[in-house]
Amino acid sequence: MSEILVVSGHTDLENSFANKIILGELKKHLPEAKFDILSELYKNYVIDVKAEQEKLVKADVIVLVYPFFWYGVPSLLQKWFEDVLVHGFSHGSKGDKLHGKKLVLSFTSGALEELYKKDALQRYEIEEFLPPLKALANTCGMEFAGYVYSGGLSYQSRHDEAKLALMRQKALDHAKRLGGADRQNFMIPAKFYKYVFAFIMSAFMAFFMSFVLTYLNLGFVDGFVKIWLIVYVKAFVVAYPVLLLVSPFVTKLTQILCKK
Ligand SMILES: Cc1cc2nc3c(=O)[nH]c(=O)nc-3n(C[C@H](O)[C@H](O)[C@H](O)COP(=O)(O)O)c2cc1C
Repeated sequence: MSEILVVSGHTDLENSFANKIILGELKKHLPEAKFDILSELYKNYVIDVKAEQEKLVKADVIVLVYPFFWYGVPSLLQKWFEDVLVHGFSHGSKGDKLHGKKLVLSFTSGALEELYKKDALQRYEIEEFLPPLKALANTCGMEFAGYVYSGGLSYQSRHDEAKLALMRQKALDHAKRLGGADRQNFMIPAKFYKYVFAFIMSAFMAFFMSFVLTYLNLGFVDGFVKIWLIVYVKAFVVAYPVLLLVSPFVTKLTQILCKK
């Protein structure tokens, strides 16, 4: 079984709302995981490099849990990167200790998810802040195995009971998704979405269309099922590439025609 190391990078977990809930829930979802709470161990930012490296060596999956601070990781987690991930350990010609391990990110932001869009207040998609951590994984020979993100977990909403209840629910959902992230590693990566979508769509469409057209042309003749299945395979072979080609155009046209 994979050994999971959860590294909490919050600088002030005692006063945290969201990440405290996320970590608490994660302990229930992943009882076998090890938890490395940096703010408890290193209040003074003096990191025990050897101890941290040993924890990393034992782990197969490393989960970084942190709040989004100034569009990146909190200073304590950054210091941990700088002290622990050193040449000869994590990278360099002899630094292979993290090779093949999986890196998963869990982070929360104060701004709402919908504000992280090109045409919204934050001007950038949330994915656009991830390349430094993806590059870190790459340099250390790790597999970037995805992230779980939740927005709208703002300090400003902490005195409003209704907003607090909403934030609590968000943090609980976040932990649930993160607990299931291990399973998600076995799923098809999101970049293949359009291929999977076109495959399923053409499989269904070809199935029904070939049945109806075979029946309308021939009726229920002897060997109907065999003929239908041959037509089905041929229809699928045509439908799949056509759907791949036309779906971006159809999506665009639908967006133009329909009100938001
Ligand atoms: C120093 C600091 C920097 C922050 N920077 C950002 C930011 O760049 N973008 C954002 O959406 N939220 C930002 N926030 C809000 C935090 O991300 C948010 O409060 C946090 O995710 C909530 O988690 P917690 O309850 O565990 O502290 C910042 C908060 C602090 C204190």
